[in-house]
Amino acid sequence: MLIAYILTGLLFLLLPGTFLGVWNLISISSRHALDSLSPAWIQAHGHAQIFGWIGTFILGIGFYSLTKMGRLPTFAIPRGWTCFALWTAGITLRWFEGVVGWQWRILLPFSAFLELAGFILFFQTVSGHRPAAPVDAHAAVSRKPWMFLVIGSTFGFLVTLVMNLIATLQVSIDNTGPALSHVPDQRLITVATWGFLVPAVWGFNARWLPVFLGLGQPRPRFLFLAFGLAWAAILAEFFGRLTWFAALLPFAALSAVLALHIAEPSIQPAKITGVHPSFPFFVRLAYAWLLIAGALSVRASWSDVSGGIWGASRHALTVGFLSTMVFTIGQRILPAFCGARVLYSSRLMLASLSALTIGCALRVASEIPAYEANVRIAWHVLPCSAVIELLAVALFAANLALTLLQPPAHLRSTVAIS
Ligand code: HEM
Repeated sequence: MLIAYILTGLLFLLLPGTFLGVWNLISISSRHALDSLSPAWIQAHGHAQIFGWIGTFILGIGFYSLTKMGRLPTFAIPRGWTCFALWTAGITLRWFEGVVGWQWRILLPFSAFLELAGFILFFQTVSGHRPAAPVDAHAAVSRKPWMFLVIGSTFGFLVTLVMNLIATLQVSIDNTGPALSHVPDQRLITVATWGFLVPAVWGFNARWLPVFLGLGQPRPRFLFLAFGLAWAAILAEFFGRLTWFAALLPFAALSAVLALHIAEPSIQPAKITGVHPSFPFFVRLAYAWLLIAGALSVRASWSDVSGGIWGASRHALTVGFLSTMVFTIGQRILPAFCGARVLYSSRLMLASLSALTIGCALRVASEIPAYEANVRIAWHVLPCSAVIELLAVALFAANLALTLLQPPAHLRSTVAIS
């Protein structure tokens, strides 16, 4: 079941997500203006990336985590498949309505309803299940900070899906077209990123980076501070305080860096068996992108006119931080989670991460001069950045798909012996 979730997530990443993103960017670049493109297409791309790709991965890993908690309840597997059906139908329908707009007044809110129903089924299954064996008191205390963040991010996930349902019902009742209006759309993206995905990464990093990178145990106070600042920023945006919203984000990012010892040397050797030795470098680089995203948001709140600085900040966050993190940690853990497999190629891993970094750097650097100052050369760089990012995504997807399609390591050695 986890393999089905991962392969479906990869499919959403490749076609509805990245391919449409590249298409959008090429259209914007050829017309030299962001507002020349349909907002419904831009939103269809963003939704496919955040929910179709990363959301599907998270749901699959969440169901998988039940198997690590001792006895697997019998109802978990059928519920996992029902959730899969509801979720993927909702995401596909949402993308279709954004691009085609057929019967959107009914089907757009219906897609949001399907997504929420799938999530609630997931939430009921995962939250109702407790570890089989009692944990000792020390383990319970030391697990709290990362669990707090994971639970907090799950709450953010729920809030995002409820907001999405309300926003789609609103456009349907008002009959304003299949695109959400600007303010609800921006709020939705803020909660989806800073309230759901970013704290989820911090939580899982707090759990795993001491093991994978040999970093010190997380500092709980800074971790909670990072989480609190991210939600304070979200609330500031909701109350229309854009300067406060932007000013809080770099502090949230910095607190997370301090909490997780990202800028400090490892105290144990990193565990890089089966992945490329550059793995620790790219995890740290992701946090550099998070800081850049925060800093750019401050500049955007002062001087953005045409969406270029906000766009660069969002791209530093979604591609620089989130995608780099999913590329690194995903290729580290998913082969093992999906039946003790070994990553197909560590060189492909390096190639995908290098292309992602180059593409993202070109995009973030050229989006501001292109959108804000109409600099000619920057408009030519943007489509190149998109194609390099598409290459990165294709390499990542191919490496994971090839890993999952080959038999697990122990069966491969049996086949080789026979
Ligand atoms: C492969 C590379 C990608 C390309 C070429 C791309 C392209 C674009 C473009 C052209 C826009 C329109 C606004 C702007 O110009 O800044 C946009 C918006 C957006 N992108 Fe991407 N993108 C990519 C990857 C991603 C990823 C990986 C994510 C999330 C994980 C993401 C999430 C978003 C979101 C949330 C929006 C805003 C949507 C909205 O306004 O509702 N993008 N992207």
